Amino acid sequence: MSERLLFKDRVVVITGAGGGLGKVYALEYAKRGAKVVVNDLGGTLGGSGSNSRAADVVVDEIKNAGGEAVANYDSVNDNGERIIKTAIDNFGRVDILINNAGILRDVSFARMSEKEFGSVVDVHLNGGYKLCKAAWPYMLSQKFGRIINTASPAGLFGNFGQANYSAAKLGLVGLAETLAKEGYKYNIRVNSIAPLARSRMTENVLPPHILKQLGPEKIVPLILFLTHETTQVTNSIFELAAGFYGQLRWERSAGQIFNPNPETFTPEAILNKWKCIVDFKDKPFNKVQHPIQLSDYNDLITKAKKLPAQNDQGSIKVDS
Ligand code: NAI
Repeated sequence: MSERLLFKDRVVVITGAGGGLGKVYALEYAKRGAKVVVNDLGGTLGGSGSNSRAADVVVDEIKNAGGEAVANYDSVNDNGERIIKTAIDNFGRVDILINNAGILRDVSFARMSEKEFGSVVDVHLNGGYKLCKAAWPYMLSQKFGRIINTASPAGLFGNFGQANYSAAKLGLVGLAETLAKEGYKYNIRVNSIAPLARSRMTENVLPPHILKQLGPEKIVPLILFLTHETTQVTNSIFELAAGFYGQLRWERSAGQIFNPNPETFTPEAILNKWKCIVDFKDKPFNKVQHPIQLSDYNDLITKAKKLPAQNDQGSIKVDS
């Protein structure tokens, strides 16, 4: 049996930890020895209002169980830097950041106002940015950091009525992927999760028999694993729900390299070779790939450059 993963003396900041998933994370980190900053604005699901009670209740529960925690009531997008300051002022460092706070303003794109779009992007994406930006210098200088950005299946695949939410959530994935690269040599590991769990966000949209399976406690183990000091996993996206844990990755089709003849670079040539372009099977001249960085293009560019003027694989006979 493997050793218990402990977080003794690690300082964890969890945004939106007054309820739902964030609360369950906070309780488990504290049980395993972490000092926890429990942030929550305490507003409604739509983002209006505020209330210090949400964060206070979680802090009290942690303290009553003998753990260490401090509350913060700032809004992630307005005063994200103050949440990190709470960690520094109370515990002297920040080791782990869970960007979890979120709101919903679901409405079809045709009826979505600029305010409805902007406010959701603001809380999720700009809030995530503010927290990362404020925590980053501390993580760089201590050469240790673990960050989780909370994305969503709606961000990865799109979902009716959630253009604002989807845009923000995929934005968080992009932010995580770049921070994973910039933080790598400083032992900062950054990943994204796309969870599905029972909370006030889902209780009115999913049927009871499904909700029953979606206990938020089933999300916690992967979060703790990914943020432990011994875990080196980074730059990755995980999907998790109801006890399922899996990884998602980008996949590039084997595609089609066109003959380097300007006359072949036409929309008609694309039409002729469309099936090859979107074919996700390995081909003799090129394999299906799972790119994780921009330089993964280099191989393709090199191959395209090497093609002779007449190449059986790439040449396109375009009817004039
Ligand atoms: P929740 O509504 O229970 O928790 C979100 C928390 O964020 C609330 O306690 C809320 O007060 C807080 N919050 C909202 N705006 C804030 C702000 N500006 N500053 C600080 N705190 C703020 O919802 P749940 O389900 O626990 O969601 C947690 C995260 O997981 C969210 O980012 C959500 O988008 C994401 N998620 C949840 C899914 C689910 O199935 N529950 C599915 C996919 C993603």
